[in-house]
Amino acid sequence: MRNYKIASLPGDGIGIDVTAEAVKVLDAVARLDGGIRFEFQEFPWGTQYYLKHGEMMPKDALAILASFDSILLGAVGDPSVADHVTLWGMLLPIRQSFQEYVNLRPIKLLPGIESPLKNKGVKDIDMVFVRENTEGEYSGVGGRVNPGTSAEVALQTGVFTRHGTERILRFAFEVAQKRPKKHLTSVTKSNACNYSMVFWDEVFKEVGTDYADIHADQYLVDAMAAFLVTHPERFDVIVASNLFGDILTDIGSAIMGSIGLGASANIDPSFKYPSMFEPIHGSAPDIQGMGIANPLGAIGAVKMLLEHHGENEMAELLQQVIEQQITAQKVLTPDLGGTAKTWEVGDDIVTRILASR
Ligand code: NAD
Ligand code: IPM
Ligand code: MN
Repeated sequence: MRNYKIASLPGDGIGIDVTAEAVKVLDAVARLDGGIRFEFQEFPWGTQYYLKHGEMMPKDALAILASFDSILLGAVGDPSVADHVTLWGMLLPIRQSFQEYVNLRPIKLLPGIESPLKNKGVKDIDMVFVRENTEGEYSGVGGRVNPGTSAEVALQTGVFTRHGTERILRFAFEVAQKRPKKHLTSVTKSNACNYSMVFWDEVFKEVGTDYADIHADQYLVDAMAAFLVTHPERFDVIVASNLFGDILTDIGSAIMGSIGLGASANIDPSFKYPSMFEPIHGSAPDIQGMGIANPLGAIGAVKMLLEHHGENEMAELLQQVIEQQITAQKVLTPDLGGTAKTWEVGDDIVTRILASR
């Protein structure tokens, strides 16, 4: 029996709804496979916990999580507490402490979804973002001088280390090597960010010499944002810094047809620490409690969790089931033009998994 200990962190808002469906789907995968066992433990950390205890998660949370094989996360963020408090209290420390330096975000138009981009089909929208996930613009380095005065200065410093930059670029080249097009695009803003991004471009060139089989090119992030909408077929694997990767992957989810569809894996490739799987979207307070959140991004994250643990057969099956479910056009949430509730989509996926053998 292959046993996986999974920590479930539903977090806030619709994170709670979509994580319930993700757990349901993993259970169904284990039932179907017979050789896999998932041992779940759920932790009620997040904004409600903060309002009671003054912290988003307990002091020993990271030590607790370290004993798990993987983490499933919903989303963090609630209008009752400032976002920088909640995110630096939970999501970002997990990514950074566990060296989850790769944030892998596949963007793929699924059959049955009408592309919001006129005339683009499933062959045109199929790319993987490799987002740097532990440093760069999210290093948390900075400060405020003379707060509240007319002389106030706020500094937010990007930190790009050779170690951090080289390892994410190398990882991206290796992702590109596994894909048929063997094309890697690096995204920077080296015209304006004349230290960090010029450095990134140089390291990209250096690392690229080890991957002569890869067609490597680079774009400035502003033009890239436009080309993702006008010419998505140009792209295969895209590597970007933490902030640019964040912004571009919301565009990516949007061109898949809904922000509710994008999946995300925060990976420590060394397996020293647990990796963390979550949808790309956030806690969506505007639809919280309505039962209409699309759980397919969270379920796509489950597929990435299975792949991470080498459970490729079940990962492939889950991908097929998601595609069948969408193609059938019967059980879709309102963001995809349907009337189904979150749990109905999860139940339909489970039924299809169990019926597949
Ligand atoms: P958001 O992704 O939560 O929502 C943006 C829009 O997309 C909203 O209109 C929302 O209703 C819609 N949407 C999102 N997920 C959906 C789904 N599964 N199905 C259908 N519609 C969906 O972004 P936001 O509104 O900018 O942020 C809300 C909160 O979430 C903030 O506190 C933010 O900091 C946090 N956030 C957390 C994460 C995370 O924990 N990984 C990610 C992004 C945002
Ligand atoms: C994401 C989110 C987070 C990020 C926020 C909530 C800190 O937007 O996972 O995409 O920017 O990484
Ligand atoms: Mn984001």
